Amino acid sequence: MRYFIGNWKMFGVPKSINMLKKINTFYLKDKNRKKYRVIITPPYTLLESYAKFFKNKKISIGSQNCYQKDQFSSDTGAISPYMIRSVGAKYTLVGHSDNRNDGDTNEILKSKVELALKNNLVVVFCIGENKKDKKNKKTFSVLKNQLLKVLDKRFQKNKIIVAYEPIWSIGTGKIPTKVELEKTVIFIKKVLKVVLKKNSPVVLYGGSVDGSNVQLFKEIKEIDGFLIGGASKSSKKFIDIIKNYYR
Ligand code: 13P
Repeated sequence: MRYFIGNWKMFGVPKSINMLKKINTFYLKDKNRKKYRVIITPPYTLLESYAKFFKNKKISIGSQNCYQKDQFSSDTGAISPYMIRSVGAKYTLVGHSDNRNDGDTNEILKSKVELALKNNLVVVFCIGENKKDKKNKKTFSVLKNQLLKVLDKRFQKNKIIVAYEPIWSIGTGKIPTKVELEKTVIFIKKVLKVVLKKNSPVVLYGGSVDGSNVQLFKEIKEIDGFLIGGASKSSKKFIDIIKNYYR
C-alpha cells in the first residue's frame, strides 16, 4: 500500500473542497486506485466539514497537529486529539518541523503521539535533520534520537506512520540523492523495527515532491509514499504526482 498525503499547512477555505472533489473523481476512475490511499490534512477550520463530506468516500481527512493534553483544558487556542477525532478526522501529523520550530520538544511530542493513538487517530510522525546536521554528517544520529525519544513499543504498532522530511528540502526544491535517501529510509526502518517491534514499518518521504521528481523516488522501493506540501495545494499537481508515480 502506498500513501499520498497532502499537507495544506495554512491554506484553504470552505470552497477549497472543490480541489478534493477533483482528486476524488480522479481516484474513482484510476485503475491503480487499490494500490494507494489519499489523505489530506487541511487546517483545523475545515476538518469537520471536509471529514463529513468525505465520510464514506475514499479520501481521508487528518489534522496537521494536535495539542498535548486530552479532552478539554483551559489552554487558549488548543485543539485536543479527542476534539479532532470527534469531528471525524482519522489521522494527525505530529512533529512537523514547523511545530518543532514553534517549541514542540520530544516530551511534548510523546504526549501528542500517545493521546492521538488513545483517541484512535493514525499518527503520521514527522522527523528530519536540518542543513547543519546534514553538513556535519549527523543525519542518522538526529533521526535515531527523534525516533527513540518519542516512540515506544507500547504504542499500537499499526497506527504509526513515519514521514521522513529533511528540513533543508521542505519548500526549497532540493531533494536528497537516490543513494542518500535509500540509505536513510532503510536506516529509519531498521530503527523502527527495534523501537516499535514492527516488521514492516511504513515510512514516507516529504520535501519538494512533485510530478517531475516522483519517478526518482519510486525507484526506492522502501519508500511507502509521500507527504506533500506545496504541490498538494493544486488538484492538478497532486494528481500529477499519483499519475507519474504509476506511469
Ligand atoms: P513541500 O512539499 O512544499 O516541500 O513541503 C513538504 C512538507 O513540509 C509536507 O509536510
